[in-house]
Amino acid sequence: MPRVTVHRKAHFNAAHRIFNKEWSDQKNLEFFGKCSNPNYHGHNYDLIVSVTGEVDPVSGFVMDLSILRRLIKSEIEEAFDHKNLNVEVSEFKKMNPTAENIAVVIYDKLRVKIDEKLDLSIKLYETPRNFVTYSGE
Ligand code: NI
Repeated sequence: MPRVTVHRKAHFNAAHRIFNKEWSDQKNLEFFGKCSNPNYHGHNYDLIVSVTGEVDPVSGFVMDLSILRRLIKSEIEEAFDHKNLNVEVSEFKKMNPTAENIAVVIYDKLRVKIDEKLDLSIKLYETPRNFVTYSGE
């Protein structure tokens, strides 16, 4: 059976602050740059969720994209969209909400909801030019 990757794009806006709480605001600014702003700031995150597997001979699908769409909505968008990630998302109470860490959290939330015989990969854009990928390695 051919293995094919299906992709679903999604989007959320969220605020964050990247910082080390042991450091002064000045040291955080020097190390983390503008993302350390003590008053937070927002990003328009673009998310691409990719699922790879064999094409099912009956349905013709790798995975029903309407199911993937609903999973992304319930697990990711409802948890992150229009939220302050540091304050309102439990995973980031003690972990910096960098694009890297957000991608890992998204992966972990979706991985448990998707058939284990399918491979999952996350691509997260924090800006149009800065993005990260994570596939669970
Ligand atoms: Ni930022």
